[in-house]
Amino acid sequence: MIKGVIFDLDGVLVSTDKLHYLAWKRLAQDLGITDFTEQDNARQRGVSRMASLQVVLEKSNHSYTDQEKIDFAERKNQYYVELLESLTEKAILPNAAETIVLLRKKNIQIAVGSVSKNAPAILQRTGLLPLIDKVGCGLDIIRSKPDPEVFLIAAKKLGQNPKNCLVVEDSEAGIQAAKAAEMKSLALGPEKENPLADYHAVSLADPSINWDMIIAS
Ligand code: G6P
Ligand code: MG
Repeated sequence: MIKGVIFDLDGVLVSTDKLHYLAWKRLAQDLGITDFTEQDNARQRGVSRMASLQVVLEKSNHSYTDQEKIDFAERKNQYYVELLESLTEKAILPNAAETIVLLRKKNIQIAVGSVSKNAPAILQRTGLLPLIDKVGCGLDIIRSKPDPEVFLIAAKKLGQNPKNCLVVEDSEAGIQAAKAAEMKSLALGPEKENPLADYHAVSLADPSINWDMIIAS
């Protein structure tokens, strides 16, 4: 029986992929990397800021010190935060807010489980925050997905047993984290990308999602 649903944020509730891409691309250009593509950006989905930086630096011939890498990640975040200033409720993905409202009516508790340190600001700017019971984010954790830490913290904040929680995710790292947390999972996107998930849908607007069946599982 599902009593809590933990939503990933980026790519599940809110469309931020493009903004992450633009910020990483700007950093890549600063470093003389001209071939950073949206395909590279897809590999950064769901993984930590430092692991995402590694995807960019794979394209560089230079080797950088740990301090330089920390500075690069901070610079990318400044670029990203600048872009987030233009974020509004228009960035909410189709049927995301409606899904949360529907689940709340079914007495399901709602959490966000995101490794982004910007998650609280994104929820605030898009107006989603009042719909969410608890937020687990990058500010709460030491280990990023695929480690289950962020989902276990979200479940704990909800006061729910992980076995009674469902994770909604768009990334492979996130589905692996849900499995490691012993939670059920609904993967959004092409089914072949996340064969490990219990349920699949194209997006939260997919009419094939049977919430009553999922909740009863
Ligand atoms: C999410 C995104 C990743 C991003 C990570 C850290 O999981 O999907 O692409 O690297 O959050 O986000 P942050 O905003 O803290 O850099
Ligand atoms: Mg995501």
